[in-house]
Amino acid sequence: MCGIIGYVGCQDAKTVIISGLRRMEYRGYDSAGVALVTDHGIEVRKKAGKLKNLEADLAAHPTPDSHEGIGHTRWATHGGPTDENAHPHLGPTGRVALVHNGIIENFAELKAELERAGATFLSQTDSEVVAHLVENGVASGSTLREAMMAAVARLEGTFTLVAVDAQAPGSVVAARRNSPLVVGVGEGEMFLASDVASFIEHTREAIELGQDQIVEITATSVDVTSFDGSPALTKPYHIDWDLSAAEKGGYDWFMRKEIFEQPKAVADTLLGRIGPDGSLILDEMRIDAATLRSIDKIIVVACGTAYHAGMIAKYAIEHWTRIPCEVDIASEFRYRDPIITANTLVVTISQSGETADTLMAIRHAREQHAKVVSICNTNGATIPRESDAVIYTHAGPEIGVASTKGFTTQLVACYLLGLYLAQVKGTKFGDEIHSLVRELEALPAKMEEVLKDLGATLDLAQQLHDVSSVLFLGRHVGYPIALEGALKLKEISYLHAEGFAAGELKHGPIALIEDWLPVFVVVPPQGRDQIHDKVLSNIQEVRARGARTIVLGERGDEAAASYADHFLALPTVPTLFQPVLAILPLQVFSCEVATLKGYDVDQPRNLAKSVTVE
Ligand code: M6R
Repeated sequence: MCGIIGYVGCQDAKTVIISGLRRMEYRGYDSAGVALVTDHGIEVRKKAGKLKNLEADLAAHPTPDSHEGIGHTRWATHGGPTDENAHPHLGPTGRVALVHNGIIENFAELKAELERAGATFLSQTDSEVVAHLVENGVASGSTLREAMMAAVARLEGTFTLVAVDAQAPGSVVAARRNSPLVVGVGEGEMFLASDVASFIEHTREAIELGQDQIVEITATSVDVTSFDGSPALTKPYHIDWDLSAAEKGGYDWFMRKEIFEQPKAVADTLLGRIGPDGSLILDEMRIDAATLRSIDKIIVVACGTAYHAGMIAKYAIEHWTRIPCEVDIASEFRYRDPIITANTLVVTISQSGETADTLMAIRHAREQHAKVVSICNTNGATIPRESDAVIYTHAGPEIGVASTKGFTTQLVACYLLGLYLAQVKGTKFGDEIHSLVRELEALPAKMEEVLKDLGATLDLAQQLHDVSSVLFLGRHVGYPIALEGALKLKEISYLHAEGFAAGELKHGPIALIEDWLPVFVVVPPQGRDQIHDKVLSNIQEVRARGARTIVLGERGDEAAASYADHFLALPTVPTLFQPVLAILPLQVFSCEVATLKGYDVDQPRNLAKSVTVE
C-alpha cells in the first residue's frame, strides 16, 4: 500500500513527481504529498484525499523551481487520512523530508524515546519518527546515507523509505525492507518508485533492488549497498511494456480496459509455453524433473482474487496429477501450522508480487524446506525473487484495484503448471495433454466472443444496480467463480453480495432468499452430467422461493435456460476451463453497476491495489 517516488534530474521535479503519483494512486488514495528540494530549503505540500486535492493546492500556490524531490500517495494505517498524517514528514527542523510505505512496528518505543529527548510530533504516523531519526543523524554530522543506515538499524517492521536532505541537494536516499522499490535509470535523471508505471514515460530501464538495501541516486549515478554498507549486487532490466499500457486508452476506467484486454493477456500468457507437439515448455520451472516427481503434496497460497484462482487450481491440479492439493488464504497459512515437508510444493499466486501475507507464507514454507513456485504478474517483485521458480503471467500492468486480467491469466498459469506437472509425472498421456492444450489455445477467441455479446449483462446492470443484495452460486469450479463474482461486486459497488457453494445453500443461507432477490448461478457444461443436473436442482430451489435467477451456462443448454429469468450464454469449453469465460460477464456486471451508482471504479473506498502490510 502507498505509492512512493523520488526524483533527481533535469526536469521540473514537481511535474515528474505528480505524474508519477497519478500512475500509482491505485496503491492508496487517502492523501498525497510532495517535498521539493529548492534553493530555499525543502518545500512540502500535502493534502488529505485524492491526488486532485494536492494538485489544486499546488496550482493555487505555486512552488519554487526544483529538480529534486519525493512524493507519496497514502493508504492509511497509523493515523487517519488527514493533512497532518499525509506524507512527506519532516525532521525536527525541516531539514530532512521523508516518505514511507509499510509499518514501523516499534515506532511507539522510538517515539517515546525521542519525546523524552524533547522532540514534538505533528502527526500520529509511525513514519514521522523515522524522519526525526534520519534528521538527527544528519544534524550530528552523518551523510544522508549514513543517517538512513543508522535509522534502519533501529527499525522493526516493513518499510520502504525515501528521503532528501535540504543541505545535501542533488541526491535522494532510500532504504528497502519487505516493501517494493525499483530504480528507474534515465539519461541525466534517476527515479525511485514503488512501481515502474510511475516513471515509464521517462525511461524503460530499471534496476531491481533486493531486501535490506540502501540506494542513493544522483542525476547520473545509482549506488546500492546492503544495510551494513557492504556492496550489493543489483539486477538491471528492461521494462517490456510502454506508457500506453499504463493509460486508459479511451476507456472510462482502467478496470473496463483491463476486462477487454483479457483475451490478449491470456494469449500472451500461453505464448512460448506450448511446443509444436502440444507439450508444455516451462523453461522458467527451475526445479528439476526428479524433484518435481518426488512432490507428494501441493499447497496453493494466495489472497483475495488470487486465492479464488488458487481454489480453481486445486480442482485442475488434483484431477490431472493425482497429487493431493490444499488451498490456503495466505494470512491464515502459517497460523494453522500446516504440514510441510521437503516433498511439498507450495504454489503462491500474486498479481503484484508484493502481497505481504503471501510473502510471509513463502518464507514460512521455505523455512520448512518446501519448494516454492510463484505465479506472478510483476517482473522482479519480491515474491518471485524469493521463490524457487516463477511462472510469470503476461497480463501487462493491472491498474484497476479490482483484479480482472490478473485473475484470468493466473487461471491460465495454474492450468499450465498443472498440465506440466502431469506431463513430468506421467499422470496424463501426451495426447490427453495435447488436447487440453488445444482447448487452452482456443480460450482467447472464446473470451472475445463473450466480450462481444454483453448486451444482456449491461441490461441486467441497468435493472439491478439499485438492489440491496445479490447472491452467487456455483459448484465445483463454479463455486470459486461465485465467490469471485461476489467479491467484484462488493469491492467496487459496495453492494452486499455473497458467493456460496450451490449445494451448501440449503444448510442455512437459503433463508436469505426473498422475493425477486437476484441470484447468479454458474452452471457447468452439460457433459458433466452429475454436477450439471445438481446445479439445475439448486436453481429450482431458489426459484421456488421467489429468487430472480440469472444463469450463466453453456450456449444451447436448454434445460439451464428454462430455469433462468435471464440466461447468459457461454461458449463450450471443458468444465475446468469454464471459469475463464464465466467470470467475464460478472466482471462487466460489477463494473457497470459501480459506474451506474456513480462510484469511482478504479479507486474503491478503503482499498488499495497492493496490500504490503499483514
Ligand atoms: O497482488 P495480489 O494478487 O497478491 O493481490 C491479492 C489481493 O489483494 C487481490 O486479488 C484483491 O483481492 C483484489 N483487489 C481483488 O479484486
